[in-house]
Amino acid sequence: MALSFREYGSGFPVVMLHAFPLDGRMWESNAASLAEEGYRVIVPDLTGFGRSEGGPTTVGMEYMAREVSETVASLGIPKAVFCGLSMGGYVLLRLYDIFPLSFKALILCDTSARADSDEKREAREQMIETVESEGPGVLVESMLPDLVSKKTLDGNEQLMSDLAEIVLEQPSDSVCSALRGMAARPDSGPLLKEISIPTLLMFGEDDSVTGLDAANELLEGIPDARLETIEGAGHYSNLEAPEEFDNHLISFLKSLDLSR
Ligand code: MLT
Repeated sequence: MALSFREYGSGFPVVMLHAFPLDGRMWESNAASLAEEGYRVIVPDLTGFGRSEGGPTTVGMEYMAREVSETVASLGIPKAVFCGLSMGGYVLLRLYDIFPLSFKALILCDTSARADSDEKREAREQMIETVESEGPGVLVESMLPDLVSKKTLDGNEQLMSDLAEIVLEQPSDSVCSALRGMAARPDSGPLLKEISIPTLLMFGEDDSVTGLDAANELLEGIPDARLETIEGAGHYSNLEAPEEFDNHLISFLKSLDLSR
């Protein structure tokens, strides 16, 4: 099923995939900046999030990837630059595995090629039980503060309340389906050496969820990759330091030959 999406600007297409447990609104300001620079930005709400319909009990990263691909194909776009943050990045690694020719370039932010550890899977199981009984509101207190940097937590009340609002709007079923899907995702490590397109990695310096060790694995594994770290930002680097994030993104896009 095709996904609900927002579209900004015109030019070479850039598709941006959001993190968990958010929706496409997390890219609003970045997408507007890219549109101003002359790109066509497509921002889907991944399966069950935002305005997109839910899927099965377990929504794997490959399931989401196929829905993204259908959505992009329905717009008549054969090739795009794809950008994903955290869960969005897990989805992109699966998408590259299935449809590598749809990629002009890749941007992976605050994400990892690794599968979950047993410990992480257990933590997700517990999170599913709590969300099923109490709703996604529990994530606002139990998860959000650990995702951002101390600087953001202490100094950016507006962002924290915007994030909470988005989290609270996500349906519990979709949150749980995505948690099951992330827990079941395969190790994308073996894929990295096959990624034959220019790749930008962007990580908040204070990302305690997908830290710099995950960034370095991607950097060492992907042949044509470069890494930009973002000072003062945690896991949501695009929201915590939007200006620096956008500058790196735009300079990477300008370095690409998008004429073919
Ligand atoms: C995200 O930001 O998408 C999540 O932190 C990903 C995860 O839970 O592994």
